[in-house]
Amino acid sequence: MPSSARDNDEPKSYTAAWIAALLLIVAFVIGLLIYPPLYDAPKHEPSSFTLFIGRFHPIILHLPVGALGLLCLFELICSTRRGEDKFGEASLLILVVGAAGAVMAVMAGIMLSREGGYVGGNFTLHQTMGILGTVGVLLALVVRIVAMGRESMELLNAYRALYFISFGIMGLGAHFGGNISHGNKFLTEHAPAFIKEPMIAIEKWMLSFVEKPKAEPEPKPEPETAPKAEPKAEPKTEPSTTPNTPAPTPTAAPTSGEKLVFQHVILPVLTAKCNKCHGEEKSKGDLRMDTYVMAMKGGENGKNFVAGKLDESLSIARILLPDSDDEHMPPEGKDQLTPEEIALLKWWVQQGASGTQKVSGATFPAELKATVEGILKG
Ligand code: HEC
Repeated sequence: MPSSARDNDEPKSYTAAWIAALLLIVAFVIGLLIYPPLYDAPKHEPSSFTLFIGRFHPIILHLPVGALGLLCLFELICSTRRGEDKFGEASLLILVVGAAGAVMAVMAGIMLSREGGYVGGNFTLHQTMGILGTVGVLLALVVRIVAMGRESMELLNAYRALYFISFGIMGLGAHFGGNISHGNKFLTEHAPAFIKEPMIAIEKWMLSFVEKPKAEPEPKPEPETAPKAEPKAEPKTEPSTTPNTPAPTPTAAPTSGEKLVFQHVILPVLTAKCNKCHGEEKSKGDLRMDTYVMAMKGGENGKNFVAGKLDESLSIARILLPDSDDEHMPPEGKDQLTPEEIALLKWWVQQGASGTQKVSGATFPAELKATVEGILKG
């Protein structure tokens, strides 16, 4: 019996493994306390240290992918007594390396998210499942060390179940991370139909838990007059440097027949496709486009929308750059404008980039009527 040889050995205590596991758990908890996962735009400008480390996320994540992937093979071998005797300690070492990689990848990922613009279903699932998977792997590590100390095959099996589940969660979570940088279609685009359809269905189903229904709860301008002091979602955050008093934001004034081209047709497009990065919470390139005044004022380089002049309007220019260009907006991998939305923005600039023009008085190009209707309906 192979165990007779072991009986003579002193029971192993796996001190080094315990120290490694505890250090990892403590580091993870402290890391999460310092950098709690956020699901909204960060409130403070991140330090350059945060941003510097964050950019390593896409490199670091290969460590847990490799180590934990390899561990799957090792754990299959270890599922027999013989396998465990031969490879149990090697598995433990790989598990420690993989868990350390997962902790580092999560922390760098959270720091990366401080750059802003990381919102939406893919991000929510990626961050949540990445953290959950890592917690699972750390727990699994503890269970494995206990199981090895007690030489308990049952506990080892429990460990393996926990490990494979955690690995699965992490892998799925990683997939949504891929979607963030490559777009949702990246993996499925060239897949054969019998794989593609179920994959898209599962993905949609998972995203449906975290994504709000498309119709933004844009407080419909009451058809009645607006006597109530509507608790408008106006900037109640830190008094930003930007004056928003002079903004001709006639949201409350017009009756439903008096919708404005900028406010009700153009702004919703900017809100959906640009203002996660160019809004109240984040203003990349110093550019905010959440009110007419700010959109016209522009960012670092000004001249964001120049009435009648497409080629002088920086936003239009950057929208029209090829996707692969570093200056293309929205940045590669983010939700892109549709051709109709681009045409609409160009039309608006060409015919004066007005902030007061009424929908009823505007002549939209025929081919854009349907798009405009769609936007007006919300
Ligand atoms: C995911 C974040 C993100 C989204 C979404 C996004 N941008 Fe940007 N944008 C940036 C960053 C970061 C910069 C600053 C770096 C640079 O200039 O490329 C920037 C800069 C700009 C600038 C240059 C401002 C200046 O004055 O230098 C313009 C114009 C611009 N964006 C327009 C847009 C438009 C229009 C959209 C929507 C169609 C959009 N962006 C969507 C991240 C984003």
